[in-house]
Amino acid sequence: MANTILVGAQWGDEGKGKIIDVLTRQADVIVRTQGGNNAGHTVHIRGKKYVLHLVPSGILHRKKMCVIGNGVVVDPVSLVEEIEGLLQLGIRPHGNLYLSETAHLVLPYHRELDAQRERLKGKNRIGTTKRGIGPAYGDKAARTGLRVIDLVNPERFRQQLRLRIKENNDVLRAYGARPLSFERVHRQYRAAGDYLKPFVANTVILLQEALRRDADILFEGAQGTFLDLDHGTYPFVTSSNTTAGGACTGSGVPPHRMDRVVGVMKAYTTRVGEGPLPTENAEIADLLHALGREFGATTGRPRRCGWFDAVVTRHACLVNGIDHLAVTNIDGLDSLETIKVCIGYRDGDRRYDYVPNDIEALARCTPIYAEFPGWRTPTHRARRWKDLPAKARSYLKALAELSGAQLIIASVGPGREQTIML
Ligand code: GDP
Ligand code: IMO
Ligand code: MG
Repeated sequence: MANTILVGAQWGDEGKGKIIDVLTRQADVIVRTQGGNNAGHTVHIRGKKYVLHLVPSGILHRKKMCVIGNGVVVDPVSLVEEIEGLLQLGIRPHGNLYLSETAHLVLPYHRELDAQRERLKGKNRIGTTKRGIGPAYGDKAARTGLRVIDLVNPERFRQQLRLRIKENNDVLRAYGARPLSFERVHRQYRAAGDYLKPFVANTVILLQEALRRDADILFEGAQGTFLDLDHGTYPFVTSSNTTAGGACTGSGVPPHRMDRVVGVMKAYTTRVGEGPLPTENAEIADLLHALGREFGATTGRPRRCGWFDAVVTRHACLVNGIDHLAVTNIDGLDSLETIKVCIGYRDGDRRYDYVPNDIEALARCTPIYAEFPGWRTPTHRARRWKDLPAKARSYLKALAELSGAQLIIASVGPGREQTIML
């Protein structure tokens, strides 16, 4: 398959988990390189639903090497729970899952600080997942983070954790929040450290060995392009580089070993949390929510929904270098008479064909729409391109053309088999 970076082209939840599951068949190694347990990647296999947060979705295939890379922030307790959950579902990750020694830890004070900062922001809150992601990456950048390598060194972990809890308790008190008990946190996280020890590895060396034996590596992006710390709708973003470059820094695999970038996008747009969403539309949100769809895989929050925004996906293709596109959730539009696609923005007299950096300008923008006739036929049974109604094919061709990349996968349902390979 060659080394493939898979990224979300919108605001996350594009269906990356499902597409990773489909592409894993052709891969030897699957790597997460950024984000943490803010991610929720759903895979449906033979009627069973799996939601992965930290473990690469490739783990659902037997005998694939799965790596949690150095760029991920890992809550050890949450990772233990996830592994235990997999065991209960009959999946044993032991021997296939590797956790980078240099991945940074998410600790209870990060979660507490995340919640307090959101509370103080009030109506300006980001709407984070409250998993402590921002404060953990903040500590990493400030060089005050603890890493997996520290967690599995009992003496060092005890010393460093004591210092970090002392300092963070002062901050928590200033926020009017309850300080944390060192003893309790230490006990809980040490136990997680012991549990995780067999998974811990120098993953950069492992991946270099995989490159040497010409293994096919699949990089599983989390979140989406417009949640990227640099390229997203700042400050309404997450705290990592969700775009293709993050796969290199978050794994230690150099750019010239990357062969292609696949962008995943929904046939419409969703966003969970605050921040601009130019094509937001109540009618389409009501339609999808009534079908029981578009509720967050991590937090259960209803996702905001809107029409497909080609300004957004075009920009995503440029900054990620997307070669190939996977479009998911086509079946969500089956009942519509007319389908709108945003092809530009208007802010007063000004027209944009790219996403403006000033989010106040973006918030003022109104979409310029093109209209497509709906196909009004169920698509969930389609397995080949020619099984799709002609109007659905035209719509998908237009999405790919407007975005500027080649369509290779069309998804018509959450199941593994509900996938059309072009
Ligand atoms: P991710 O974070 O990008 O992996 O996406 P999520 O798992 O958070 O959200 C995508 C949702 O859409 C999940 O519930 C998937 O099971 C579901 N899904 C993915 N592709 C399709 C599709 O083509 N049709 C339908 N109906 N659901 C899909
Ligand atoms: P996957 O990998 C959708 C959003 C949050 C919030 C913002 C910052 O499943 O696509 P954070 O907790 O990261 O500090 O929250 O980012 N967010 C996601 N939205 N899908 C995700 O992951 C997300 N991870 C974070 O809702 O708006
Ligand atoms: Mg998700």
